Amino acid sequence: MRLQYLALSALIVLYSLMFIGGYVSASGLGLSCPKWPLCPNGLLPSYDFLIEWTHRFVAATTGTLIVATAVGVWLNKKSDKKIKLTGTLAGIFVVTQITLGALVIEAKLHAVLVAIHLGIGILLFAMTLLTVLFAFRMARTQISA
Ligand code: HEM
Repeated sequence: MRLQYLALSALIVLYSLMFIGGYVSASGLGLSCPKWPLCPNGLLPSYDFLIEWTHRFVAATTGTLIVATAVGVWLNKKSDKKIKLTGTLAGIFVVTQITLGALVIEAKLHAVLVAIHLGIGILLFAMTLLTVLFAFRMARTQISA
């Protein structure tokens, strides 16, 4: 897959994840799945914790797409310093964010951890967006060169 479309799909899935996270938080469903890493039904969803299960499932998909984008950036010979920086930071933030998600559950939704979870989510979105913009610019300059 072309790097710019991989990065764009990561951004779209990430945006949906933040949307679902906001819903989890606002509806008070954060501890509907009290275990980590899997919910009580293992890999399968259940009506009792469907929203929280979806948040984790989409988080795993997001993590895979963002790490794949970071690897793609480093493998692409045309990548400059800027896209390497944003792609790598997005990779670091996504791993941090998923780890933090576990801590949010362990600490029973401690307010400080939930606030940091939101803050890192925003930084992650910013880095992924910049990576998308740099990847499209890189693809355009390759065509016109
Ligand atoms: C890339 C990964 C992730 C992103 C971008 C993300 C993003 C978000 C966002 C934006 C919120 C809403 C925060 C708020 O409104 O204050 C949220 C809530 C939440 N997230 Fe995540 N999340 C990720 C992974 C995870 C993981 C792996 C877990 C682990 C279980 C998790 C657990 C939660 C919980 C429990 C809440 C609700 C907190 C509450 O009730 O206030 N998140 N997430």
